[in-house]
Amino acid sequence: MNIILLGPPGAGKGTQAQRLVERCGMRQLSTGDMLRAAVKAGTPVGIKAKAVMERGELVSDEIVSALIGEELDSMGDDAGAIFDGYPRTAAQAEALEGILGSRGRSLDYVIEIDVDEDALVERITGRFSCATCGKGYHDTFEQPRMPGVCDKCGGTEFKRRKDDNAETVRTRLEEYRAKTAPILPIYDARGIVRKVNGMADMDDVTEAIEKILAG
Ligand code: AP5
Ligand code: MG
Repeated sequence: MNIILLGPPGAGKGTQAQRLVERCGMRQLSTGDMLRAAVKAGTPVGIKAKAVMERGELVSDEIVSALIGEELDSMGDDAGAIFDGYPRTAAQAEALEGILGSRGRSLDYVIEIDVDEDALVERITGRFSCATCGKGYHDTFEQPRMPGVCDKCGGTEFKRRKDDNAETVRTRLEEYRAKTAPILPIYDARGIVRKVNGMADMDDVTEAIEKILAG
């Protein structure tokens, strides 16, 4: 199965992708995570992407589509793929068709995570994650069970994203409205869009997505 999680910054794409990986054994392909790893490692892609990401703008279509192709090649043919944060433009949506087709894959569903924009700044500015395993948390909505200790790996170091501030979030939202939301009708015309209520409790969102995947 190959699915796209689509929604604005803070909608819960990463949160839900991590849950699906644990429950269904699918692979999460997050271009945001790949780019942040490239920035940290100081690769040529990371050097190009760093300032663009800090402004909250979109990195070039060529760079992110190449990352997705490489990631798909590194996983087994029968592993399901969850695209998190990709595609984000019409050009990326078109590139994905070629990337999937040439690997004998096709899209099953586009899950639209529908949220109230007013909630997004709070979600994003309260977000942090485990520096060791990447598990996501939130100051208000999802604290580690034991304060200061990651539920998943026991790590004690946590980190926050540089682009998680109110000003950059505004640019990220504008980019979403201008370039990403307009790709939904392409998938809608194919009858593969399924909408879930992203304002519901995290567990309920997971359940709604699992129901869709079960057919
Ligand atoms: P990326 O990393 O993809 O960021 P984003 O799209 O802005 O999305 P977020 O990761 O902020 O939100 P999310 O939906 O994953 O929310 P989360 O689950 O963490 O991209 C970053 C940058 O990289 C871009 O700005 C761009 O520069 C570049 N980039 C990446 N991909 C690109 C591409 N394809 N093309 C070009 N450039 C690209 O949830 C947020 C918080 O809310 C968490 O703390 C969570 O605990 C909480 N939460 C989640 N669900 C709920 C719920 N139901 N109730 C209460 N709280 C919740
Ligand atoms: Mg994310």
